[in-house]
Amino acid sequence: MFQESVFLQNTDKAGGHQELRDWVQKIADFCQADQTYWCDGSDEEYNRFTKMLVEKGTFIPLDEKKWPNCFACFSDPSDVARVEDRTYICSRTKDDAGPTNNWVEPREMKTTLEGLLRGAMKGRTMYVIPYCMGPIGSPLSRLGVQLTDSEYVVVNMKIMTRMGAPALDMLGDSGDYVKCIHCLGAPLQPGQQDSKWPCNPTTKYIVHFPDDRYIVSYGSGYGGNALLGKKCFALRIASSMAKEQGWLAEHMLILGAESPEGEKTYIAAAFPSACGKTNFSMLIPPTEMNGWKITTVGDDIAWIRMGDDGRLYAINPEAGYFGVAPGTNSKTNANAMETIRKNTIFTNVAVTPDGDIWWEGMSKTPPANLIDWTGKPWDPASGKPAAHPNSRFTAPAYQNPVIDPDWESPQGVPIGAFIFGGRRSTAVPLVYQSFNWNFGVYLAATMGSETTAAAFGEVGKVRRDPFAMLPFMGYHMADYFNHWLQFGRKLPNAPRIFSVNWFRKDENGNFTWPGFGQNMRVLKWIIDRVKGRAAAVESPIGWMPRYEDMDWTGLDFSKEDFQRSCRSTARPGKKR
Ligand code: OXD
Ligand code: MN
Repeated sequence: MFQESVFLQNTDKAGGHQELRDWVQKIADFCQADQTYWCDGSDEEYNRFTKMLVEKGTFIPLDEKKWPNCFACFSDPSDVARVEDRTYICSRTKDDAGPTNNWVEPREMKTTLEGLLRGAMKGRTMYVIPYCMGPIGSPLSRLGVQLTDSEYVVVNMKIMTRMGAPALDMLGDSGDYVKCIHCLGAPLQPGQQDSKWPCNPTTKYIVHFPDDRYIVSYGSGYGGNALLGKKCFALRIASSMAKEQGWLAEHMLILGAESPEGEKTYIAAAFPSACGKTNFSMLIPPTEMNGWKITTVGDDIAWIRMGDDGRLYAINPEAGYFGVAPGTNSKTNANAMETIRKNTIFTNVAVTPDGDIWWEGMSKTPPANLIDWTGKPWDPASGKPAAHPNSRFTAPAYQNPVIDPDWESPQGVPIGAFIFGGRRSTAVPLVYQSFNWNFGVYLAATMGSETTAAAFGEVGKVRRDPFAMLPFMGYHMADYFNHWLQFGRKLPNAPRIFSVNWFRKDENGNFTWPGFGQNMRVLKWIIDRVKGRAAAVESPIGWMPRYEDMDWTGLDFSKEDFQRSCRSTARPGKKR
C-alpha cells in the first residue's frame, strides 16, 4: 500500500494535483472504501454532515435557543483520550526517536498497518480533507491531507483547521503536504447497523513516520488521536520539520497583553495538557488592574520563526479550540463560555432531555434528569462524574470575544517572552525568571507536572514533561534541547524565559494562589521584567519578585500569603 501506485479517478473537487489524486485512489482501493468524497470545507457541507450525524444518532442537537447550531455526542467508553502507549514515532532508527517515544522499525510498522487497513473502510465512505495549518497564504503555514472514514472527524476538522477548497487551491498542482490516513478500524458488513461511535475498542495505533512526513491513525475516533492536524501534524511531524528547517513547533498558547498605555506584548506559554492553557490564553484581568487587556492568538500550539529583524514571530496553526470542558464556567472563563455559545460540538459532556448540557464545575447545582457521558441517567449519589473528566468542546476561534486582531496575520506576532508552567502542589514557586536563554532551556527541560485526565494513566503523579512536549515530540528529546540551545545562539536579543506555577497547595490541600484572572499580576511582573521596569532578587534558580515588586491593588493577599506561594515548603494558607 505504501509503495505501489494505482490508477487515477477523476472527481470534481480533486483539483489538479496528480500525485495527490493517485495517493487518494490508492488508499481508497486498499481500504476498500465504498466511495470517496472530497470535502470542500463549506458551511453548507458542514450543515449537511451535522444533519447526517444527527440521523445516525451520533449527534444530539441541543436546544436552538440556548445553544444555536450546537451538538453533543458520547464516545465509546474505550475511546476517551489520547493513547500515549499506542503512539509511535517510527523514525529510520530507534535513536532518532529517542528514549521518550515508542518506536518500531518503519517497514515492520508499515506491514502491521497494512494488515490492519486492508479492507478496513468497507461499508464506509472515505472522506478527503485537504487542510492548511496556519492562515491561508501565510509563508509560515503548512498543508496536510487527511483521509478518514469518520464524519465526526470531518466536522471537527472544519472547526479546527482551514479545510477544503482554500487549502486545495494553496496546494496547487504540485505542492507539498503531510499525508494523513485515519481509519476507525470498524468496517461494516452489508446490512450491518453502524454504531453511534464507531472505533476499534481493542486495537489502536497512532503512528508517525517523520522521515516520510506520514501519519497513520487506526482504531480511535477521539480528539488528538483522530484530528490529525493537531498533535500529530502540528506538533510531532512539525517538530521534526522545524528541527530540519530551523524553526520551533511548540505546545504553547500565544496571548497578547495590552497595557493601559496601549503597549502590546505577545507571550508564548507552554503548559502540559489540562493545566488551564485555554483559560490563560483568554484571561480576564481583575477590574482593579485598570485598563489591562488580554487577547488570544492561540490556546495550544505555536509555530515560531526568527524574522528578518532578529525577533521571533509566532503563528497559531489552528483555527479552533478543542478545550477541556470540566471546570469551565462564567467565573473561571467567561470568554470561553461566550466562545462556545454557538456552532460548537460537545463530546462526552452530560446532557438534559431538553437539549441543555452540563459538566462538573459548570454550575454549583447540576440540572435535574441529567444523562451522563455514557448515555445513562445520572445518579448524583453515585460518586461518578456526569461528564467525562476529559470531555471537550470544539469551537471556532473567531467566536472568541477577545480574539487578537492579528491572530491570522500571515507573518505572525512578535514574541516578547516565553513562560513554562506545570501543575505542582509543592516545590515550584509562583514565578521566577531564568538568568538567560540557556538557563531557560534547562528550566523547560526539567519541568514536571501532576498528571490529569487528558491522557490515559494515573492521575495526580508528577511526571517529567520537558517543554510540555513529552507526548508530542517527533524526534530525540536531547536533540530537541540542543535545537533550542542552538536556536537561541542566533537570536540577537532572545526573549526572556520564565517559570510559573498556579497550582501550589498548603498542608490542608488548599491552593495558595487564587489563579485565573489574578494571574494577570504575575503576567504584569513578567512584562515589566521584559521591559526592564520591574525589580527582582537573585535566587539560586533565577530572578524572583519580592512581595513589593508585584501589583496587589485591590487584592487581599498578604506578604505571608505570597511567601507561601513562593517558598519551597508549603505552609497552611487560605482557600483559593
Ligand atoms: C490537548 C492536550 O488536547 O494537550 O490540547 O491534550
Ligand atoms: Mn494541548
